[in-house]
This record gives sequence, structure tokens and C-alpha cells, in this order.
Amino acid sequence: MPGQAVLLPSNIIRLKTVDSTNTYAKALAKEGAASGTVVCAEEQTAGRGRQGNSWVSIPGNLLMSIVLRPRIKASDIGQLSFLSAVALANVLENVLPSAAKLELKWPNDVLINDKKAAGILIETEGHGESSLWVVVGIGVNITHAPPNAVCLYDLGVKTYGAEEILEMLVKQMLGLVAVWEQDGFASIRHAWLKRAYRLGETIMARLPQETLTGVFEGLDAAGALLLRASDGSQRIINSGEVYAGLT
Ligand code: BTN
Repeated sequence: MPGQAVLLPSNIIRLKTVDSTNTYAKALAKEGAASGTVVCAEEQTAGRGRQGNSWVSIPGNLLMSIVLRPRIKASDIGQLSFLSAVALANVLENVLPSAAKLELKWPNDVLINDKKAAGILIETEGHGESSLWVVVGIGVNITHAPPNAVCLYDLGVKTYGAEEILEMLVKQMLGLVAVWEQDGFASIRHAWLKRAYRLGETIMARLPQETLTGVFEGLDAAGALLLRASDGSQRIINSGEVYAGLT
């Protein structure tokens, strides 16, 4: 029921090594696993990132996936990117020193001091609205960061490990999913925009067929990026990737 109490899932599956927690969680979802089922691993041998990238999976970092069966329209599923990023931000803001600058980069990267600290990979497969499931995979750099990224440990966070972050994150995710199901996307959109990377600045958006330059004006009600081009026209971007801003 929308608005029901948020319980921690009883089923957290903890693995030492797995190819990818997302692959494992997707198999569980297909077998009917309950919403809130969590898979986490100490190590992944074939961790996946977005756009076909691999995700370097070092022990000590958080590697987790959660199965969700949100009671929303299938066409709104993209909003889960923003919801997951806001959940991560809510957790990380509680553990980071106040001087750390945390920002959310469209559509779902978490940056601290301009470097990537966490990534989100959302996967689902064609199915009817009544059996909608989605797997949200999250990697958080806790003790190690690949080149050009950042980890919590290097920012002075020494007392929260993967287990503590996992517990807080699952609570946040389930709480926000309940809000989303009951009230829609508006408050999640607002929370995301408050921390948006380069909002109001000129950015480049790399799309599958073209690269667009314009002022990042915000998100529309569904989560698409609004870009104002120099000729005054507005572009609504549903997919792609924003990268370095311009001056
Ligand atoms: C990105 O490209 O930013 C998304 C990275 C997502 C990585 C996580 S780690 C846990 C889960 N299992 C995977 O194979 N990928 C996600």
C-alpha cells in the first residue's frame, strides 16, 4: 500500500564474490523476489557501469543492488535515477565533513568535490505494468577510488564502512519509494535540483546522435533535462550524458 511503514528488508543476501550484484538481483527478480530484496557483495568479477562501461569493484567499497516493484506507471521508471541519487545524497550528507561539496550530476552521478563518488545502474526488462520490477545497482567508493574519482575515506570518513552505508541507504531508498508512490515525483525532483551540478550554467550534453550546448535550466516534471540553446530555443533531453561545463 502506498504510504505504508518503511521496514528494512528481511532479506539482505550477502555474497563474498559475484560476477555482478545486478545480474544476481535480476535473476532473483525474474523468479519473483519481493520488493526490497537486497544483494551485496564484497567483490565483483564483472561489475557493470552505465553505457557498457565496467565498474571497478574493490573490496571495502559498497557494491549493492536492490529489487524494487514500484507501484508507478512503467513510463515513469526513469525517475528512479533521481530518486536513487537523492537517497545517496541524503546518506552521504550525514557522514561527510561539512566542507565537502556534494552535487548530483544528471541523470544519476554523485559527485563530491567535483569527483565521482558513487554510480547508479538501473536495469529492467520488458514486462507488463502489473509485474513491473527494476533492479537499482549502486556502487559507492568508500575505501578506494579509481583514478579521477574520490572515496569517503580520503575525505576523512573513517567510521562508516560499507555495512553502515548499506543500511542507511536501503532505508532511504525504501522511504523515498514510498513517497514517490504516494505523492509522485515533485518532491524528489525538488530535492535533486537543490543539489544539481551546473544548474544555471552552460553545459554540453552528449546525446547518441549529437552534442548540444546550452544553459541547464532544470528538469521538467518527468525528469528530462531542459537546455536553453544560444538561439533561445529549448531542448528537452530524455537520455544522454552531461559532461564538463563551459565557461
Ligand atoms: C555507473 O556507471 O556510474 C554505474 C555504476 C554502478 C555500479 C554498481 S556496483 C553494484 C552494482 N552491480 C553492478 O554490476 N553494477 C552496480
